[in-house]
Amino acid sequence: MKNIMMKWFKNIYGDNDDVRVYFAPGRVNLIGEHTDYNGGHVLPCALELGTYGAVRLRNDKVIRLYSMNYIEKGVIISSLDEISSTEELIYHRKDDWANYPKGVLWAFAQHSFMDIINRGMDILYYGDIPNGAGLSSSASIEVLTAYIIKEMFRIDISLKEISLLCQYAENKYVGVNCGIMDQFAIAMGKKDHAIFLNTDTLEYEYTPLNLGNNRIVIVNSNKRRELGDSKYNERRAECDEALRRLQTVVNKKTLGDFTIDEFERYKSIINDDTLIRRARHAVYENQRTINAMKSLQADDMVEFGELMMESHISLKNDYEVTGLHLDTLYESAIRQEGVIGARMTGAGFGGCTVNIVDVSHIDSFINNVGKEYEKITSLKADFYVAESGTGPKNLQYANNRVLY
Ligand code: GLA
Repeated sequence: MKNIMMKWFKNIYGDNDDVRVYFAPGRVNLIGEHTDYNGGHVLPCALELGTYGAVRLRNDKVIRLYSMNYIEKGVIISSLDEISSTEELIYHRKDDWANYPKGVLWAFAQHSFMDIINRGMDILYYGDIPNGAGLSSSASIEVLTAYIIKEMFRIDISLKEISLLCQYAENKYVGVNCGIMDQFAIAMGKKDHAIFLNTDTLEYEYTPLNLGNNRIVIVNSNKRRELGDSKYNERRAECDEALRRLQTVVNKKTLGDFTIDEFERYKSIINDDTLIRRARHAVYENQRTINAMKSLQADDMVEFGELMMESHISLKNDYEVTGLHLDTLYESAIRQEGVIGARMTGAGFGGCTVNIVDVSHIDSFINNVGKEYEKITSLKADFYVAESGTGPKNLQYANNRVLY
């Protein structure tokens, strides 16, 4: 990939002297969905799929951005001066995907790094994460960009701080009130491990992905998220409102602070069926995630799989973020031989499911689920037997990686 990037860099930007190539992964969330903005736990892992960035510093303050995934958009041009102008937030919808890297630069500017970031850059991106599928292609671009800036300007900022900076960019520049899970999982990813993260305190623990004879199979519904961002913000507001009502009778900081018993005791104070269901998902999903971590540590994949299925049902009935496409993939998956667990993953409203499948049944799983899904939805699903991956890296030094 590195060589392909170098060739493209030359085509787009004239020559490729002094170019460096970096990589940041995507992520898949195993369990703990819509808990990260409720102070709960999540259990994602980084993937081998991800985003590559080839970069070179310039002698002026111009920023040029190009994506091999969006060649029709051409080179998108900005400048450090434009991005760091604090008087107004300059957001051009037409810049489309480039608003992610621009947002990251803007976030650096907002945190007073512009005396260090004093030269422009030409950057070329390429990603192999299916986009809009709930595998965090946008957070991958963000973390990659922040990592590139850290390295190119030798900025003393930790990977954890990078994840917070990228979340800030997404919240304040792009306008999606996402939690910390995606950026954290990508920045902190560790091969063959999942990350058990407390999103309230940012305390985390790596746990080995001992899946035994099983593999993680990701299925992309190829149903793009519709109104995903506005519905996402709506769910978040509903949880905030449910918490606000609960706080009139009980002293808790987040929905993640409630045990199931406490929630059942106080829930009537919310006094609205929809809000109760949203909060119930957040509270129960947090407990499921804590239990899922324990079952992973105890090598109890059967228990882990059951928790995944409970998670899907709760996301369907209480949180209402699944829909025909994800439900069809789920229903079909759980009927297949060798399936230990299945659920939607990511924000929902389209995107992917994540499945734990016995390795000897993967072929029949792909065949049967693919056929049933197409029959019901007229769409073809894509299947990925996922490999877990590591956080951002400079590919010059990644000698243990096959640079095809
Ligand atoms: C998106 C957001 C995350 C998280 C998930 C749902 O991926 O970016 O912060 O809220 O949805 O779990």
